[in-house]
Amino acid sequence: MIRMATEDDLAAIMRIENESFSAPRWTEENYRSMIFRGEAKVYPLIGVAEIENGIAGFIAAHVLSGEECHLESIAVAAAFQRRGIARALVQWLLTQAGPVPCLLEVRESNEPALALYRGLGFSSIGRRKNYYTHPTEDALVLRTLP
Ligand SMILES: CC(C)(COP(=O)(O)OP(=O)(O)OC[C@H]1O[C@@H](n2cnc3c(N)ncnc32)[C@H](O)[C@@H]1OP(=O)(O)O)[C@@H](O)C(=O)NCCC(=O)NCCS
Repeated sequence: MIRMATEDDLAAIMRIENESFSAPRWTEENYRSMIFRGEAKVYPLIGVAEIENGIAGFIAAHVLSGEECHLESIAVAAAFQRRGIARALVQWLLTQAGPVPCLLEVRESNEPALALYRGLGFSSIGRRKNYYTHPTEDALVLRTLP
């Protein structure tokens, strides 16, 4: 089941974040500031995939109401990968955001993520040179139509 994250999920989100990414990215405070606190013109939200004893993955995004959605982060704990959890998280986000385009950046070497996004109808619309560090790498910018 996918549901909105609460402050109680932050420790689990940080565990999955830290095991999933090569470079330090977001702190617990960053994620805390992204917990959904009601709709506004621009609002953040985090969804979590709940399992029996905790959460298996999360998705974090910003929604610009009626205009655009930006997927900021998604990760699934290694033990729960390849079960359709990331696909369910992205589909949940697209439903939450409504009929607006969704954009994201992804390392160009991240084949699992690229396969995930392409399978959900995202296509590449550009590149950001040296967007990532540790290791330095370009980002591909992907977008889906509503
Ligand atoms: C990318 C990631 C979120 C995918 O999570 P997941 O729950 O395993 O993905 P799903 O099971 O929903 O897979 C959906 C589709 O994505 C593709 N995919 C997922 N993992 C893949 C892999 N290791 N190799 C190739 N394709 C893969 C497949 O097309 C898959 O469909 P299929 O299983 O029917 O073939 C996960 O590997 C992860 O957390 N990686 C580390 C963090 C990261 O890179 N996040 C993305 C940042 S942009």
